Amino acid sequence: MNMHVTARSKEPVETRDHGLVAGDRRQVVSFIASIFDRPGRPSLAQYVPVADDRTWCLREGNGRIVAGMLARNWRMPSGIAGVNLGYVCVPESLRRRGLGGELVHAAVEREEHVGAAFIMMWARDYLVDFYRAMGFRDLGAETYCDLDVPALASEPGILSAPLATLPHTGFDSLRRDRPGTIFRTLDRGCWTGINRGFPWASELLIVYAGRPNHASWYAVVAKATSAVTIVEYGGPDDRFASVAGSVRALFQGLPLRCNFTDPGFAAMALPVRGAEAGAGYHRLLRSAALVPEAAPVTSWLDRI
Ligand SMILES: CC(C)(COP(=O)(O)OP(=O)(O)OC[C@H]1O[C@@H](n2cnc3c(N)ncnc32)[C@H](O)[C@@H]1OP(=O)(O)O)[C@@H](O)C(=O)NCCC(=O)NCCS
Repeated sequence: MNMHVTARSKEPVETRDHGLVAGDRRQVVSFIASIFDRPGRPSLAQYVPVADDRTWCLREGNGRIVAGMLARNWRMPSGIAGVNLGYVCVPESLRRRGLGGELVHAAVEREEHVGAAFIMMWARDYLVDFYRAMGFRDLGAETYCDLDVPALASEPGILSAPLATLPHTGFDSLRRDRPGTIFRTLDRGCWTGINRGFPWASELLIVYAGRPNHASWYAVVAKATSAVTIVEYGGPDDRFASVAGSVRALFQGLPLRCNFTDPGFAAMALPVRGAEAGAGYHRLLRSAALVPEAAPVTSWLDRI
């Protein structure tokens, strides 16, 4: 095969920032869609890039794309600017030749060169060692699962509202008290919609008990057409199961999902099922400037 980029090649890697060229970007996005799309889910080809999202790819000499990925800028509330890389993919027939690794390596170098103080990635179990060798630290696994909890009769005093319509200060005190539970990063100091730009992006709702400035617990919930996902929970550990039951009751008929970032929650023995059960995604961080404790917990790669 005539390729500029081959496994462990000493030749320079051809990497292009197609985010600058709308037509090329579409090409990379449909390449990525051809690998990640699943029946019954909206196509990734409908993804509408947000602001300065970038697409990266490796090409053969004839121009055919052989590896692709997406990059999104990410600023910590402290102001530190970094990048989240995701949707790395290589067609099945070309795997295990070093292409995926070459692409990530080249993209990391390029993003750092233009100022990223940190790079975050999410990777499956089997790729963690590979990325570790590339200077990434493993910050821990996320368990993505369906929650098999009974729908509880709605308790009095449970409220829900679009997340953006409520002040977040009261909820923030709960989330700072409970680092590492089911914890989302803030984008410029605000909670934002997740998966912005992706066809399954959904409005975030907050379900809580008490008053917004004195809630006893809250759950941030993403309601999509195919499922409801609890993307964050702040409150006592032993309330989580009943909160999940209440959320289930509020959105009757839709499967209830969750991303656990705290193994303690996963160990609450809520049965795990679904296509991704046990897949084990790991949060990976590469940064000289950011200590792991300050690293974002999750972002647009929520796979919701
Ligand atoms: C993940 C993916 C991009 C890897 O691309 P690739 O070109 O095959 O990766 P590389 O050849 O650079 O592999 C680098 C290393 O990763 C590890 N690795 C890659 N695929 C692996 C697999 N299926 N099982 C175990 N280890 C694997 C190996 O350590 C490998 O090095 P080796 O071949 O010397 O053993 C590709 O398998 C893919 O497109 N998968 C589907 C999409 C996807 O799941 N993306 C990842 C989201 S987390």
